[in-house]
Amino acid sequence: MQRYRDEIARMLAEKLPLKKEQIAAELETPPEPQMGDLAFPCFKLAKILRKPPAAIASELAGALDGGDYFARIEAKGPYINFFCNRQKLALWTVEAVLKEKSRFGCQDEGRGETVVIDFSAPNIAKPFGVGHLRSTVIGNSLYRIYEAMGYRCVGINHLGDWGTQFGKLIVAYRMWGDEKKLAEEPVKHLYDLYVRFHREAEDKPDLEEAARAWFKKLEDGDGEARLLWQKFRELSLAEFKRIYSILGVEFDSYQGESYYNDMLAGTIRQVEDAGLAKESEGALVVDLEDEGMPPCLLRKQDGATLYATRDLCAAIYRYEKYKFSKMLYVVGADQALHFKQLFAVLEKMGFPWASQCVHVPFGLIRFKESKMSTRRGTLVFLEDVLQRAIELAEQTIREKNPDLKDKETVARQVGVGAVMFGDLSNDRIKDIDFEWEKVLDFSGETAPYIQYSHARICSILRKAEDWNGYDASLLTADEEQAVISLLARFPETVARAAETYKPSVVARYLLDLAAEFNKFYHRCPVLQAPEEGIRKARLALIAAVRQVLVNGLLLLGIEAPEEM
Ligand code: ARG
Repeated sequence: MQRYRDEIARMLAEKLPLKKEQIAAELETPPEPQMGDLAFPCFKLAKILRKPPAAIASELAGALDGGDYFARIEAKGPYINFFCNRQKLALWTVEAVLKEKSRFGCQDEGRGETVVIDFSAPNIAKPFGVGHLRSTVIGNSLYRIYEAMGYRCVGINHLGDWGTQFGKLIVAYRMWGDEKKLAEEPVKHLYDLYVRFHREAEDKPDLEEAARAWFKKLEDGDGEARLLWQKFRELSLAEFKRIYSILGVEFDSYQGESYYNDMLAGTIRQVEDAGLAKESEGALVVDLEDEGMPPCLLRKQDGATLYATRDLCAAIYRYEKYKFSKMLYVVGADQALHFKQLFAVLEKMGFPWASQCVHVPFGLIRFKESKMSTRRGTLVFLEDVLQRAIELAEQTIREKNPDLKDKETVARQVGVGAVMFGDLSNDRIKDIDFEWEKVLDFSGETAPYIQYSHARICSILRKAEDWNGYDASLLTADEEQAVISLLARFPETVARAAETYKPSVVARYLLDLAAEFNKFYHRCPVLQAPEEGIRKARLALIAAVRQVLVNGLLLLGIEAPEEM
């Protein structure tokens, strides 16, 4: 579609006192296909030309020559509607997809620029809950989307590996810890210890006191405390990494909260030098009253630093290291205030890049099934969820396709994909009710549905002769055009997902594409097409659909098996 936008911009720029970029930025996609493929609204021109928008639209529409690109250019009220030449659109689109292959959809908007993406960030010694799943899959997808937009991406896992909870854990481990259990199921064991600590501390308040003392020791570099902390961290991290490998997620850096310990004093000095630090009941804060926010707490009365101190330090460190043009924090909406405070402090410190920091929030995920939430205490363990999804996918595969080779791999791709897509297909800010029947439904709005469409195309293509010498300009039927028009819009869909930080834009697009493909396939025979020319053109078309389904799924971090 880009070349059509460029062409409209070129034509209109000849007739108007506007630059091509300004015109291109105004172009819209009409809500209904019978209103054309692109529309130019004339409202803004009305002011410049001092004429009613409808008059401008009809004058311009009459004066434009659509050439090879457009079959018709019509004024409709204040809009100029452009109807693409169907043959050319089919020809160029199918050709572009089949030529660019896995690069189709990639753009160079971000060339030479870096985007830092802070995502996942589970807390050491606590289970990897489904809340962190959201950050993980959304962050991972944004990483891929921004890469496709041409940016260099840096994925950072800001592990929660420091804080008073480690004092509690050390106390609990020294009293009730079991080395063997720790080695076998570290996170589970640490979580049990953590839960037990809180239970017992209810009527033994000196436990809390002991925990504070141990955390102090840890901060002061005490040998035993450091050793235990290190062990907890390593074992938890190994377990998290196992989950990441199931999900196919990678990070460029695991610099977590503890990484900044030695830099915090410097950061606090910077805040003081900027004249922003204020004593308040023995604590050190940055006043944010003028911003209508509570103060940002940087150091407690007892000298301990906080989550916010470490985030402030990390932001400054990251800017120096990466010179990012954007930094995204993919963190739940419940931390909105924290990030507003953080960005406000950076702004006050005079960092011009403060405005390039963005909090990308998301809502909660709820599990309907109580079985899931009671298996191991009150928390839903992500690994259980994934395991369950894989089992269910395997069951379905056994029923539907008992002869499939390598069922295990496919079950993993389908099960894990289903869970990820169940998250990514929702507008991230909304809360999600997770239901197994819904995410794994092969015919619903799910990853398996898209994967299944993909596998179906693969199977047709395996049976077909090759389609070299195809002529895509034969694809002018409505069903064919509906598919082509979607294919042509894939690049702008990727751009919109990046701009809004919403992988759901890509997910919804894939559902539409799979649906249009299935409609087409239902009505237009491919292998049994009446003549060779049409057959080849349709084969090329579905090969292009296959490619775009794969490219889109990859942007979501989901694999596409060729058979299922
Ligand atoms: N560990 C935190 C949590 O689980 C999330 C950290 C997000 N990243 C950040 N830079 N604050 O709530």
